[in-house]
Amino acid sequence: MKIQIITLFPEMFTGVLENSMLWKASDKGIVQYEYINLRDYGLGPRKQVDDTPYGGGDGMLLKPEPLVAAIEQAKQNDPTAKVFLPTPRGKLYKQSDAKRLAADGSGLIIICPRYEGYDERVTKWVDEQYCIGNYVLTGGELPAMILIDSVVRLLPGVLGGENSTDIESFQDDDVSIEFPQYTRPAEFEGLKVPDVLLNGHHAEIAKWRAEQER
Ligand code: ADE
Repeated sequence: MKIQIITLFPEMFTGVLENSMLWKASDKGIVQYEYINLRDYGLGPRKQVDDTPYGGGDGMLLKPEPLVAAIEQAKQNDPTAKVFLPTPRGKLYKQSDAKRLAADGSGLIIICPRYEGYDERVTKWVDEQYCIGNYVLTGGELPAMILIDSVVRLLPGVLGGENSTDIESFQDDDVSIEFPQYTRPAEFEGLKVPDVLLNGHHAEIAKWRAEQER
């Protein structure tokens, strides 16, 4: 799966995409991350990417020409890829979306808005607008990383082989089914691991876990 990220701040991604499972996924060739620096598509000698909003108001908006040129380049690189725009105005992003995108396997093109936002006309080039929660961030980079993490971990071969993505939180969208887990030592600062987990009785353990899910 090719994941193309349109951003003014590609270096923000390195800590996340170049470590742990997301890095392993690219090392194994399961995903390819590519950055498209929006500045390269800026207008004029100063490579302008933003401008003041019509009608007045605070801050600057991303201009449509550089953004659409960057999207078109990404589409040319991967014609079947879907274009995503993180925005507080999008629909709430859920586990079911991550599953759908991982199962579909098409490439992702993710736009990372900055400043006060973007010219609304770019949404004509966008397939899905999504919001990661009811709060406002300074840009689209963190929401992009969340989308990438949630999808890549579901791709075949990324997690450690066991059914670690089957039994986990948010199996169904709004219901978390994660149970509490423990590792050694069996007692820590006077706090004991529940006896049922120590007896090796798989049916009892499964029953206890089912009772603990919430
Ligand atoms: N950009 C800024 N805040 C956001 C949010 N909550 N979700 C998606 N994109 C955003």
